Amino acid sequence: MPPFNLAEADLAAVVAFMHDQKAKSDLQQGGRRAVDISDLQTGDANAGQAFFNGAGGCARCHSPSADLADVAVRLKGLELLQRMLYPNNRGGGAASTPIKAVVTLPSGETLTGRLAYRDEFTIAVKNADGWYRSWRTSDVKFTIDDPLEAHAALLPKYTDTDMHNVLAYLQTLRQEVKK
Ligand code: HEC
Repeated sequence: MPPFNLAEADLAAVVAFMHDQKAKSDLQQGGRRAVDISDLQTGDANAGQAFFNGAGGCARCHSPSADLADVAVRLKGLELLQRMLYPNNRGGGAASTPIKAVVTLPSGETLTGRLAYRDEFTIAVKNADGWYRSWRTSDVKFTIDDPLEAHAALLPKYTDTDMHNVLAYLQTLRQEVKK
């Protein structure tokens, strides 16, 4: 799991948002403790759909008729919100979101595979055939493409309204998918 480099203000906004929902639900009659799904359904699903396909850029990686077709069946309320903001490989499995690495050797040859290891001094790649190779980071050039990092980079772009709207939209995606 790569660390998320969230600006404190962004984190605070997310936390404030969740708190706000919790506070609202605490005010409800009936002593509910949990955040009710209806508390999270204050957004405008049409605006959320527009954001999903437009400014939010979600459609670059997701499809409402494929990977997210049944997202509202699988995930509800706060859980959906949390996954939307901080997805990890739970459920989908690491195989669904490999971190891609392209390594360029001094000879100019490039090798592409899954990032297998990386620290300040070493980078290692495993390819589809299962070979594993590692290099000193100082000996090669490399680029790393991590979809989850791209996800984290979206957070500062969400306004509170965007967040409510796109969540409302996601909650309409409840197609039963044959497994
Ligand atoms: C750069 C690609 C990319 C973009 C852009 C992107 N996502 Fe994701 N998203 C991912 C990846 C990768 C995952 C993790 C999938 C997994 O669990 O393996 C994910 C997970 C999710 C999940 C959890 C899905 C599940 O089945 O558990 C939701 C919800 C989600 N994203 C919503 C959004 C929304 C809303 C936007 C736009 C604001 C967005 N994503 C933009 C790549 C992207």
